[in-house]
Amino acid sequence: MNSNVVSQPPSLRVGIRRATVGDAAALAEFGARTFFETFAKDNTAQDMRQHLESAWRPELQRAEILDAAVDTLLACDADGGLAGFAQLRAGHAPACIPTVAAVELLRFYVDKPWQGRGVAHQLMQAVETRARARGACELWLGVWERNERAQAFYSKQGFRKVGTQIFVVGSDPQTDHVMLRDL
Ligand SMILES: CC(C)(COP(=O)(O)OP(=O)(O)OC[C@H]1O[C@@H](n2cnc3c(N)ncnc32)[C@H](O)[C@@H]1OP(=O)(O)O)[C@@H](O)C(=O)NCCC(=O)NCCS
Repeated sequence: MNSNVVSQPPSLRVGIRRATVGDAAALAEFGARTFFETFAKDNTAQDMRQHLESAWRPELQRAEILDAAVDTLLACDADGGLAGFAQLRAGHAPACIPTVAAVELLRFYVDKPWQGRGVAHQLMQAVETRARARGACELWLGVWERNERAQAFYSKQGFRKVGTQIFVVGSDPQTDHVMLRDL
């Protein structure tokens, strides 16, 4: 047997459904935890604390779920536990997005044990279906310039860099790559 062959974990399937207000608390916990796990090592404790308090609270996620401009899709395991989620948001676009028919992929998070196992791809397919149902012809997103794993994933999914924008974490103005793809 060739010892250079690294065995890949098997792909996993999840169920994907729209979030309801009953999911708000679990979504707030999941979003804050995943953000912390992904970005705490590259940010100060104070910036992290400020950001988590400003972005992740059950009442905020409840409002997002009820917002007609936002679609919240949950990827759930066989027991109903959250493996990931995605949010689409209509009506926002920076100047480098040339068309009004583009919808924003506002958030896209997969939990650590599910990363690298096809769940992100499955969730992206559901995002595309939902974005097309909204009448969008393009999908755009912002991804931190230092988040190389996410950039690699988005490139695999057909996104290309079209510009930059600033995303403030606590008191730190960070540069995001703006990426765009056709639907
Ligand atoms: C971004 C995310 C959704 C991607 O899902 P995933 O299951 O990890 O994606 P995949 O494993 O299919 O693809 C990631 C690619 O990055 C590569 N990669 C892994 N670690 C990497 C690293 N440290 N630097 C650069 N590339 C990396 C992988 O090898 C893979 O490419 P390959 O399939 O060609 O080997 C997921 O990692 C995630 O939720 N991360 C935490 C939250 C986050 O960053 N969300 C995005 C915010 S914009």
